[in-house]
Order: sequence, then structure tokens, then C-alpha cells
Amino acid sequence: MKILLGITGGIAAYRAADLARLLTNRGHTVRCVLTEAGARFITPLTLASLTGEACYGANPDHHEWRPSPSVEHIELARWADVVAVVPATANMLGNTANGLANDLLSTVLLATKAPILWAPAMNTAMWEHPAVRANLERLKAFGHTIVEPAEGMLACGEAGAGKLADIERIADAIRAVGSERLGSLRGKQVLVTAGPTREDLDPVRLLTNRSTGEMGIEIARALRDAGAEVHLILGGDMEAPFGIETMRVRTADAMMAACAELWPKMDGCLAAAAVADQRPQAIAAEKVKKADGPEILELVRTEDILLNLGKQKRVGVGGQWLLGFAAESEHHVEYASAKLAKKKLDAVFVNDIASGKAFGHQDNTLTPVTADGPQPPLGPLPKDQLASALVAWWAGRLGSKA
Ligand SMILES: Cc1cc2nc3c(=O)[nH]c(=O)nc-3n(C[C@H](O)[C@H](O)[C@H](O)COP(=O)(O)O)c2cc1C
Repeated sequence: MKILLGITGGIAAYRAADLARLLTNRGHTVRCVLTEAGARFITPLTLASLTGEACYGANPDHHEWRPSPSVEHIELARWADVVAVVPATANMLGNTANGLANDLLSTVLLATKAPILWAPAMNTAMWEHPAVRANLERLKAFGHTIVEPAEGMLACGEAGAGKLADIERIADAIRAVGSERLGSLRGKQVLVTAGPTREDLDPVRLLTNRSTGEMGIEIARALRDAGAEVHLILGGDMEAPFGIETMRVRTADAMMAACAELWPKMDGCLAAAAVADQRPQAIAAEKVKKADGPEILELVRTEDILLNLGKQKRVGVGGQWLLGFAAESEHHVEYASAKLAKKKLDAVFVNDIASGKAFGHQDNTLTPVTADGPQPPLGPLPKDQLASALVAWWAGRLGSKA
């Protein structure tokens, strides 16, 4: 992706250097445009060194706009796949909200047709000022994306809202607005479940599993990037991705209830959560004490979420699609094919857990199994790339069916 990173005059400007490096390391081409005030906080040399590209705009060596035989603001505006202003000052938000173009960055912001993303950072009183709020509303109405600042200790010594959002979150938001959409998923309502469930035994003990939720979260991201409206039901502690409506749940029963509510409104569902098959029959209100002799834990079965969604799946015109996972240590294809038929799934992605790869951060391979039998495996790839490959594969199948 070609990312134009605008850097304006706030204390958080130094953090744009980390963002420029992160985006460059992820394979994007990053060009920076510094405002004159921004150049008082960070130098063009730092940004050019980190990105391997020229830094544009305010430059003590080249005056405000670099001498250029071409119309630099239009060239940059056309070059970018996405324009991100990080950090964004109250001043620059106000400029663009009101159509002002008095330096290179503000001119590019009016001239570009690329998606625009703002990550504001400022003192809490400035952030809460009605003029700033009104400018933000105008920018949103233009279709711009805002990565809301976090709460925390600010450089001015006050605590409150206005701290630049986390760099990883901003990078995720840039990916969300700048990615290429896939026709068969664009605008579709898609339910994704991810993460482990937790079944309490008493106030301090619980039954859970080794899933982190990473694979499901990466799939939610890839579906979002493809243009789907993703509704994520998430167990565990991982952070929710940018721009995805996320409902956090703890238990298998809570996940079932959340799925049942959303499913009728969805076009499709990808169930990647590792849902407990059993829960304790009773949850002790007080911490259970040690006792002599053997101790027996009474378990009851939880509801099978996929089976339930499959039973209620709409078929025919306007029908729904349902994708599941199977973590198998043996007879992978036979078990996956049986699951496909029993739960009315359109595809099952088989994870070979015998190698111990499915639950960690290592590269992983998934074999899709459909009614046509096993398909060529996806991977081995890191989970983020595997998720994109899975979504591209499914978008291709949906497209060929349409
Ligand atoms: C030390 C210092 C810190 C500043 N920090 C911020 C800030 O965090 N957010 C902000 O909106 N403005 C901040 N300002 C004010 C901007 O620098 C000022 O509005 C400037 O005109 C912004 O220009 P620009 O938007 O073209 O970069 C700060 C000013 C100074 C002197």
C-alpha cells in the first residue's frame, strides 16, 4: 500500500517515527509530509531515513514546499492509496473541515481522492472543545475515518482524553481504510466468533483451553478489509480490531446467546472460537476448600453453537453461508467431512493440532474441506497472512457461485 503520512505540530509527532518504521517494515511504501510546526518536533531526516523515501513539506533546508518542477501537492494526492494524519492537531482538523489549504499537507488533504484517516492528539480541553467536536463531525460526514485518542497522562501534565492512540491500532486502522475490497464480500453482514470460552468452577478457578483468539481476530480483520461489516463475538483477553463491532463474552452459554441474536440478520458466519464442550454443573459461590479423598468434578454438555446455527441457516435465494474449523489430531478429512454434513456447513478448515501449531504464534496450515472434498491447503503462513488467504479463497468461491 502507498501511504502518505502527514505529521503535524504536536508533542506526539515523535511517535509518528515509530509508525513510519512499522508500516515500512510491513512492506508498505511510506512518504511523509511534515507541517512547519511538525518540523519543530521531528526532523525530515529521521522520517526519510526510516522510510527510505523523501520527506515532503516543511524542511529547514528547502524552505516550506520543496522546490519542484511539478505540482507536488497534486502528485502526492494522486500517488497515495491512503492519507493518514498522525498526530493530527486541532489546527489541521479545523483547516480541512473548513476547506483551507495553506500549506502542502492541507492542500494534499483537499486534493486527494484517497481515503483519509486522522489520529488526533491534544490537550483534553482542546479535544472536548465544541469547535473541535464540530470539525470532527464535519470530517466524518466527508467520509474520513477518526482513530479516537486514548485516555491517559498527557504531555501537558493533565490526565484525560487526548493521548495519541496506540501505534498498532493506528496501523490497523490504516490497513482497514486502505485495503482492496473483494466484490463478493463487500457490504455483507458477517458474524465471526473467536477466542476461548471460560467456565467458572468457583470465584478463582475456571475451565478453559489454549486458544488465544488470534486466528479468529485475524479472520475478522481480513473480512473487514475485504469490505464486509463484521460482528465479532470474542472470548479471551485479546484486543478487538479497529472498526469491528465487538461483543465480549465469557462462557459458552453467553456466546450461544450472542450468536442466536445476531445470526438471523447475517449473510454469513465464520465460527473460529474454541468453545467449551462442557461446563461445571454448578459454580460454587465461595472458593472450594481442600478436602480429603478423591474429588469429582461434575460436568454438563454446553450447547453446540455451530449445530444450532446450521439448523437455522437460510438456504436458497438470499441464503446464508456457514464456515467452521476442525482441530483434529487424526483422520482429519473424514472427521471434517462428517462435521460438514452434520452441521450444514459450507466449508470446514482443518487444523492439524498433532504438530502443536494451531495454538501458538507459529506459521500454520489450513485445509478447506467442502462438499467437493478436500481442497488445496492454505499455508503454511503466519496467522495474519493465512487469514487473508482464507478470506480470498472464500470470496473467490462465493464470487464463482454468484
Ligand atoms: C510545545 C507545543 C506543543 C503542542 N502540542 C499540540 C498538540 O499536542 N496538539 C495540538 O493540536 N496542537 C499542539 N500545539 C499547537 C500547534 O503546534 C499549533 O496549533 C500549530 O499551529 C499547528 O500547526 P500544524 O497543524 O500546521 O502542524 C502545540 C504547540 C506547542 C508549542
